[in-house]
Amino acid sequence: MKGVILAGGTGSRLYPLTKIINKHLLPVGNVPMICHGIEKFRDAGIEEILIVIGKHSAGLFTELLGSGKEWGVRITYKIQEEAGGIAQALSLAEPIMKTGERFVVLLGDNLFEDSLTPYVQAFHRQTEGARVLLKKVHDPTRYGVPILKDDRIESIEEKPAQPKSDYCVTGIYMYDSGVFDVIRAIKPSTRGELEITDVNNVYSAKGQLAYDILDGWWTDAGTFHSLYQACGRVLNEE
Ligand code: G1P
Repeated sequence: MKGVILAGGTGSRLYPLTKIINKHLLPVGNVPMICHGIEKFRDAGIEEILIVIGKHSAGLFTELLGSGKEWGVRITYKIQEEAGGIAQALSLAEPIMKTGERFVVLLGDNLFEDSLTPYVQAFHRQTEGARVLLKKVHDPTRYGVPILKDDRIESIEEKPAQPKSDYCVTGIYMYDSGVFDVIRAIKPSTRGELEITDVNNVYSAKGQLAYDILDGWWTDAGTFHSLYQACGRVLNEE
């Protein structure tokens, strides 16, 4: 199975740090943020990795990671020309996937403790559709929030004012190859972006969005506070 790490975006909430460098190259523990996702993939046996980056800092990614050899993986890169949303970034993965191939996607600013192995295995056993990983959080209004029904997600609300559960949909997603047709069919949101939640809701409407709940700690690192938190957690682990 291949892995895709989405590492573009403007990182506006971390301005002015992100004025000079892409968010995913900021330090988290003793390595740049992007390295944690690569390690998670490698440790789950996912050695073929596509990284989607913006034009900003593009050269620094290749300087840091090269072909991936030093990290025990094979890396290719795609450039997302403008900030068109997570789903638009994901659509750039289509040419590297074989017909019918399933794959795992990570948002590069998601840091977490669990090994991906059991979740990827569960997705292997799943006969169709997509799978997302959830985490219980104290501030669900910041995230995509699932409405759960048995072993499936009924739907997801993006950053709801009145969350219907205290779980967040983390930026760890698994898709079948049908996802590219789904992305083609969705429309930009009010902020002009193709939203990953709209993609996931196409699967949930068909009863094809399965989930697992992460056991260990999880955080995104998109704000100063969560970046600080991610650093603390990673350093405590070492
Ligand atoms: C994105 C997704 C959201 C998800 C979050 C996880 O939000 O849109 O559904 O819960 O990532 O990190 P963003 O961080 O782009 O606001």
